[in-house]
Amino acid sequence: MKLAVVGGGSTYTPELIDGFARLRETLPIEELVLVDPAEDRLRLVGGLARRIFARQGHPGTVTTTSDLDAGVAGADAVLLQLRVGGQAARAQDEAWPLECGCVGQETTGAGGLAKALRTVPVVLDIAERVRRAAPDAWIIDFTNPVGIVTRALLQAGHRAVGLCNVAIGFQRRFAGLLGVTPEQVHLDHVGLNHLTWERGVRIGGPEGEDVLPKLLAEHADGIAGDLHLPRAVLDRLGVVPSYYLRYYYAHDEVVREMRTKPSRAAEVAAIEAELLEMYGDETLDEKPELLSRRGGAYYSEAAVALASSLLRDTGDVQVVNTLNNGTLPFLPDDAVIEVPATVDANGTHPLPVPPLDPLFGGLVANVTAYEDLALTAAVHGGRDRVFKALLSHPLVGQYEYAEALTDRLIAHNREHLAWA
Ligand code: G6P
Ligand code: MN
Repeated sequence: MKLAVVGGGSTYTPELIDGFARLRETLPIEELVLVDPAEDRLRLVGGLARRIFARQGHPGTVTTTSDLDAGVAGADAVLLQLRVGGQAARAQDEAWPLECGCVGQETTGAGGLAKALRTVPVVLDIAERVRRAAPDAWIIDFTNPVGIVTRALLQAGHRAVGLCNVAIGFQRRFAGLLGVTPEQVHLDHVGLNHLTWERGVRIGGPEGEDVLPKLLAEHADGIAGDLHLPRAVLDRLGVVPSYYLRYYYAHDEVVREMRTKPSRAAEVAAIEAELLEMYGDETLDEKPELLSRRGGAYYSEAAVALASSLLRDTGDVQVVNTLNNGTLPFLPDDAVIEVPATVDANGTHPLPVPPLDPLFGGLVANVTAYEDLALTAAVHGGRDRVFKALLSHPLVGQYEYAEALTDRLIAHNREHLAWA
């Protein structure tokens, strides 16, 4: 089995390698290729990856390359985890929306649109090259914004599934609170990437007993604390929103905070500098504790589970980003939703979803429309399309803001936008 990781020079990669090493029975990788244009990072991350494999007795080989076509050739699965423009572009995404009183976030709102516009053309080009060099490969997309990027890939006819660690994070957290194993916890997880709610927490399987009411009765304070949301939000909704909903439910409060605190991009840049220095230490042969201060917890477990089910045809249930195809009947079939699905060698097949309360469905429909407009803007370019995507976003909405944000988005991203 050959796996290629595009964006393999990411400081996140040791998390992935650690999962590949621990879970080698589930996903027996023979050949792992880290692909990245940044050769200095590849050297550091590749070195650590080999040491982690060696320490844990993993028999697979780890190679590194900046040659995408060679790296992905003949792969069974290709993981995409790239960041066009690096952390510098992210820092911008988090800054200029604040000038207009809007949340500055890398995947949500105006900053998320900027990321989509930079990223979609690059990912589509990579996917075309994967199609030529590894026609049967599955593409697993971690690249944000996952909903829009996955929709772009599927619209272009690629064998792609989008993945995020939000659901697996809740699964692990709830399992801990309930004193059961993560595998026993099935989430009634619904929505779009970074716009989801847990409507049920079932024990034993998708049809198991729903213990969410009990979980909330006993642990609502702790869960609300994790999400930085008032406990009353959980009590009144009766569901657990993902922490990305805070950018909606507490938008103005978040903007006030963002104006006074160092940005997440700045925090991440400092963590990354320290991590890269650690990765260069040839005595280090495990994932350092410092990596847990990044947001990627459990993403290796999610990746291993998904790749294993696609390549080994297991037919188990996982939360993925996949085509709607009628699952949420109020959305277009070609929308990408984040829901539990059975996963086998033919791909992902969403489980039926009970009707969505308008309180959640309204936002899902609105953001799906935004994602559609965002994808059109990313593929075809043009100021007008960017403006329309921004105007449609529930965190923007007003004409004056959409105008001002459009100008800023283009000014800060010109070097990454072929049409600008
Ligand atoms: C979570 C999200 C990812 C996102 C990450 C950011 O894991 O699901 O989509 O990339 O957080 O973490 P960071 O450490 O870069 O702020
Ligand atoms: Mn995510």
